[in-house]
Amino acid sequence: MNILLTGGAGYIGSHTCVALLENGYNVIVVDNLCNSDATSLDRVQKITGKQISFYQTDLRDKAGVNEIFTNHSIDAVIHFAGLKSVSESVGQPLMYYQNNIDGTLVLCETMQEHAVKNLVFSSSATVYGNPEMVPIKEDAPTAPFNPYGRTKFFIEEILRDFYFADKRWNIALLRYFNPVGAHPIGLIGEDPSDIPNNLMPYISQVAVGKLSELSVFGNDYPTPDGTGIRDYIHVMDLAEGHVKALEKIVSDSGLVTYNLGTGKGYSVLEMIAAFEKASGKQIKYKIVERRPGDIPTCYADSSLAQKELGWMAQRSIDEMCADTWRWQSINPKGY
Ligand code: NAD
Ligand code: WQD
Repeated sequence: MNILLTGGAGYIGSHTCVALLENGYNVIVVDNLCNSDATSLDRVQKITGKQISFYQTDLRDKAGVNEIFTNHSIDAVIHFAGLKSVSESVGQPLMYYQNNIDGTLVLCETMQEHAVKNLVFSSSATVYGNPEMVPIKEDAPTAPFNPYGRTKFFIEEILRDFYFADKRWNIALLRYFNPVGAHPIGLIGEDPSDIPNNLMPYISQVAVGKLSELSVFGNDYPTPDGTGIRDYIHVMDLAEGHVKALEKIVSDSGLVTYNLGTGKGYSVLEMIAAFEKASGKQIKYKIVERRPGDIPTCYADSSLAQKELGWMAQRSIDEMCADTWRWQSINPKGY
């Protein structure tokens, strides 16, 4: 089967390329490289010994996207392409709506023209906003509170409308919690182009000496140690979740929504301790004010994915930290 990955050169996309190739799928990638490096795809080919067809094309370029669907008989699409910085989206909402939503519309229109109706979409736990209770189930209220989160929410709604208008569409909306880690060989991983916003890449850049000190955003949350709790999930577990979701939508029609998390929450201080243990490095940190918009606690109930996809995250927090450290220490400057 031929699977098109939009945004496939990025962090989660490149790891999903490995999982797909190792499961016998052919992979075609479209990415404009606005937040990635094509070296990731060279490395994927090295890891798997298999070839990828790559198009450096913006998803909003209708003619360019059409050419890909004309050149390949695509069976399904996994749609990762999008901008993902919460803080950037607050300052530049239009850029986020244009990129994430327009890109999705061009993709869906082209899929429709080529009668491709199998789609897996990268949504996010951010659609839940500040959850009323944890663990979060898929039917919890959605209330995103920043433009990035709203692009994910609106795209989910658009895809629901597509499905209700034509029930031959098969769609999986995957709500990821906090993806971390890297492929265990250490050749691919997360490579932020700027100073990282997210905790794990920040910690690993402190460990490798690229950044001097981590700021811990608040220690007065209603949590056991006062720091924020999140559901960190190994990116290879996430990648394997995509393979399972793909198997599901090509065999069963419908629109399905799954949380992809581990169901366990770790605090910022627990993450620092786990990373210190995995790397043997001391992580220098200071406690600062809360980051505006942060929530105290967020973790998934992923039992639906377990029941319907036969998927469950397997990798521990120690593996997440060890694999991040291997990637970071072998590639201190990224790709
Ligand atoms: P990433 O930035 O590494 O990957 C996204 C890729 O999309 C990049 O390679 C980028 O160059 C490409 N891209 C962006 N706009 C494009 C466009 N208009 N045309 C073509 N390519 C374009 O991010 P990631 O962490 O791999 O995230 C993948 C997806 O998962 C995103 O949609 C993101 O919003 C979503 N997500 C990520 C996280 C996370 O914490 N990493 C959590 C939940 C959801
Ligand atoms: C985790 C914890 C911070 C950095 C974001 C997006 C979300 C999703 C995943 C895409 C929090 C604390 C962080 C730092 C810190 N992305 N922290 N110092 O905020 O849960 O989610 O990424 O969909 O939409 O909002 O992840 O890694 O930024 O933060 O203390 O330098 O670490 O306060 O408690 P978050 P994160």
